[in-house]
Amino acid sequence: MTTTDSIIAIEDAYTSGAYPKRPVALVRGQGARVWDADGREYIDCVAGHGVANLGHCHPAITAAIQEQAAKLVTCSEVFYNDQRASLMAELAACTPGDLRRVFLCNSGAEAVEGAIKAARLFTGRSGVVATMRAFHGRTLGALSATWEKKYRTPFEPLVQGFTHVPFDDAQAMASAITGETAAVLVEIVQGEGGVRFGQAAYFQALRRLCDERGALLIVDEVQTGLGRTGRWFACEHVGLVPDILCLGKALGGGVPMGAIVWREGLGTLPDGAHGSTFGGNPLACAASRAVLRTLAEEGLPERAARLGERLLAGLRALEAPLVREVRGLGLMVGIELRQRVTPYLRALQERGVLALPAGATVLRLLPPLVIGEDDVSAVVEAIAEVLGE
Ligand SMILES: Cc1ncc(COP(=O)(O)O)c(C=O)c1O
Repeated sequence: MTTTDSIIAIEDAYTSGAYPKRPVALVRGQGARVWDADGREYIDCVAGHGVANLGHCHPAITAAIQEQAAKLVTCSEVFYNDQRASLMAELAACTPGDLRRVFLCNSGAEAVEGAIKAARLFTGRSGVVATMRAFHGRTLGALSATWEKKYRTPFEPLVQGFTHVPFDDAQAMASAITGETAAVLVEIVQGEGGVRFGQAAYFQALRRLCDERGALLIVDEVQTGLGRTGRWFACEHVGLVPDILCLGKALGGGVPMGAIVWREGLGTLPDGAHGSTFGGNPLACAASRAVLRTLAEEGLPERAARLGERLLAGLRALEAPLVREVRGLGLMVGIELRQRVTPYLRALQERGVLALPAGATVLRLLPPLVIGEDDVSAVVEAIAEVLGE
């Protein structure tokens, strides 16, 4: 029989070692619940690091994958494809403003890489200004925009031309943008950085600064996109239309998928300037189309807004001296503790709730947007217990 122990033993014998693993072997999921190999059930507030916005095994995603798998799985972008064509049009229709040119790839980091390359091509400049506490991925370009030293230092020298300024500080950004700046790259809510928001006035100042100085504004919505924050895109909360939008995580419904969407006015990339073997494959496109359709049909962004308020209200009502601050937008929630978060994650896991860290002291919740109200209450109760209300 395959048990948690036997799976762990095999994986430990072969794993790269790159991941700080928890001793849980997940083998099945349904909605906001997952089960381990020993049959133990959990409420999943990790959701594949914010991937499973529609929950696990949503019937629309399962059907789309099954149907497309029996038709055509791979098709390079040098040929046209029905699923890809429809997805591109649907992405252009659901993203803000006149964002409508699409490059499809396979991950968040790949979307950020592509956005940086596109910005360099469109502007003829090389500089990128990113922000402190930003997380944009692990590949060398995306890592150069990521702030955390422990991710960066072992791999230096990184890509040239990147600087970091304090987040939510328009003055600092104004001082950092030069005639060599191709792009300003920001998250609307810093996810890995601790669930921290910038103010609307900050993002609008960034928009003005970029317009005045000929730099492009890239918004990384890999984690915040597709309903997570209670709107389709977090930039809608702050009245911002970026020049280039990066998407990943939830877009493929669990199938690897990333996208860069940019303003029509920027034009298209030169022939052969960028590419990705798996990018825009029909299987991932069919899954993504089902994600977009289901988000709209089931009103999941609105549901995230409503349940997010309930979750935040429950957490804010806790009288736990350990809690420094509760922050959140929709179903993207961070509880900043006065102590390191790891033991509390472990205690939650023992009570059947899976949650994430965001830095050393923030407990992060990214539940599927389909999570039930009872499960939201159960999560609040479990957190109250472990934080010793
Ligand atoms: C805001 C943001 N950008 C980029 C990435 C990188 O995405 P991926 O892990 O798919 O490469 C992440 C991953 O957590 C993210 O949160």
